[in-house]
Amino acid sequence: MYKVIFDTDPGVDDAMALLFLARHPDIDLIGITTTFGNASIEMTTRNALFLKREWNIEAPVAKGNGQKYLANGEIYRYPDYVHGDDGLGNIGVPETIDIPVDPRTAHQFIIDTVKANPGEVTIVAVGRMTNLANALKDAPEIAGMVKEVVIMGGAFDVPGNVTPAAEANIHGDALAADVVMTAPWKVVAIGLDVTLKTTMSRPALAELARKGGPAVELLDRISQFYIDFYDGEVANSMVVHDTCACVYVVARELFTTRSGPIRVQVEGVGVGKTFHRPDDMRFGPSVWDDAPSQLVCTDIDALKAMALVEQTLVRS
Ligand code: BDR
Ligand code: CA
Repeated sequence: MYKVIFDTDPGVDDAMALLFLARHPDIDLIGITTTFGNASIEMTTRNALFLKREWNIEAPVAKGNGQKYLANGEIYRYPDYVHGDDGLGNIGVPETIDIPVDPRTAHQFIIDTVKANPGEVTIVAVGRMTNLANALKDAPEIAGMVKEVVIMGGAFDVPGNVTPAAEANIHGDALAADVVMTAPWKVVAIGLDVTLKTTMSRPALAELARKGGPAVELLDRISQFYIDFYDGEVANSMVVHDTCACVYVVARELFTTRSGPIRVQVEGVGVGKTFHRPDDMRFGPSVWDDAPSQLVCTDIDALKAMALVEQTLVRS
């Protein structure tokens, strides 16, 4: 059984990932921590509570910080043209959800939960890496206590999606991402190189909704706006970014990986660009030399991965 903390900014593709984690028999979802990105922190937290309620998920929800790592008072713009004004495809999520949020901040929740389960927790992070960086700042010792950190983020051998250089989750808090990539824990980065290969068509999702009952019907409704957005890139389909990271946890054999240190450009026109130095390439000496080797996913068996996603989403 994999004990998972899901760090997320729901977010349409985040919603699919959450349902996957909640329904996979080998995953014990022990916490949901929210980050801002696809919408404000108030909205992503409200959305996490909404999905928890609708899908009867037991895991507590802890609210993250609404500011980038080490930032204070910045005003952000959110991609409502991708995820809708409510962050969940304009389905009309109620303004407030009457279930309690965990009293701790997201990063304190991560610290406490990792310390209570040394060596056992996998963190699946599919938004900005802000909570993870804040957890490392306050308790650097947790790096040695986490089993693995699996992130959806980065664009290694392909262009970015918010700028030619950068993928959204990394661009949104580049400094936090660099802190996470260079910490002495095991990171697996699943970026656009892989996630752009996993898509779900509108008819396929509708068929799952017919088989999967109210939970998947809700996911189907949430996803329509996002499918409209992606229609220009993948015909009548959505890109399944965040669920890829969840698939890795239970089916890593479907992924091709490359090992070596990862760094993130933290300022300038290329802010958020992810760089990977394969272990067998000799450079330097440079600031890369002491960075730990991490894994970057370079390919995926997309057919098998999507078959697993479909099979898992319709489980009851
Ligand atoms: C990532 O950015 C967000 O819009 C998605 O939820 C995903 O985590 C893709 O670049
Ligand atoms: Ca996300």
